[in-house]
Amino acid sequence: MRKQSTARAPINIALIKYWGKRDEQLVLPYNPSISLSLDVFETKTTMMDSPNEAFTFHLNGQPNEAMKQKVSRFLQHFTKGVYPTHLHVETFNSGPTAAGLASSASGFAALAVCANHYYQTGFTLEELASITRLGSGSAIRSLLPGCVLWNTNGTIESLPFPFPEVYMAILVVNAFEKKIGSTEAMKSSVHTCPHYLDFVKQSHQDAVMFQQALMNRDLQAVGLLAEQNALAMHQVINSSIPPVHYLTEESYRIIHLIQEARNSKLFEGYCTMDAGPNVKVLMTVQDKSKFEEFAKTHHFPAVLWSGIDHVGAVIVNE
Ligand code: DP6
Repeated sequence: MRKQSTARAPINIALIKYWGKRDEQLVLPYNPSISLSLDVFETKTTMMDSPNEAFTFHLNGQPNEAMKQKVSRFLQHFTKGVYPTHLHVETFNSGPTAAGLASSASGFAALAVCANHYYQTGFTLEELASITRLGSGSAIRSLLPGCVLWNTNGTIESLPFPFPEVYMAILVVNAFEKKIGSTEAMKSSVHTCPHYLDFVKQSHQDAVMFQQALMNRDLQAVGLLAEQNALAMHQVINSSIPPVHYLTEESYRIIHLIQEARNSKLFEGYCTMDAGPNVKVLMTVQDKSKFEEFAKTHHFPAVLWSGIDHVGAVIVNE
């Protein structure tokens, strides 16, 4: 066993969404999802030997009991089921935790890669992927840089992404922790949303068309598919019983203004939203300053810009 290992992993934003598990034990999704790993926020996790027997866990410099339980369970996939001892884990998220910016995705991807190194388990990417998604489904996609496809059989693959000049504008409508977590909300959608299976069917088609659009280097098709797929996911969430509403009036105001601006050819931006009110806008570098101006005029929240992550989840201490 090593004295210390450190890994980093990027956040990822899905352009074709994962929303529902067909197998909750193995964390296998109903439909394929496709994401972009982003370079604006990352998780950095260090595992180190500790002189104390008790396992300790810090998130952003503070002990965190709730996450400690989850992390200790997760680490048992690397220790043949033995509860970790004489171990301290330090995790830093450079973005707001649980604000719909996928910090749990970068968190479990970093932890999986870190544990594989620390315990010298030598798992392959495929083995690591099947463990990582047990922490959080979407974390599997943070193992790889760039554009990533998560198949319904649980495997992941890199997709060539032919738009090097693409950026995401992240509008943090609300950085506070969400009331209903994605795990609980997606379970409710699967069991109670009357049109859940239509969403699954549509998402399968969206994933195929999205890959076709990538091959055709057609940014408009990529963007429209992403936006429609995100809105369809939110319709599913809104029509679960009881309904869940992640998007606020402010989110919808922003989305509608961006759609109008696109239709009137002011700039070409496409929205995507996850389990929170934040709006992320896909666009090319040419539209960045026009978007900034538009955002100011319409009193959008401050814009955080992100490029594409080209590194993925890797060990950083060697
Ligand atoms: C809306 O990966 O957080 O971000 O597997 O239960 O941990 P669990 O869910 P999680 O769900 C993410 C949902 C989403 C869409 C996506 O990232 O594909």
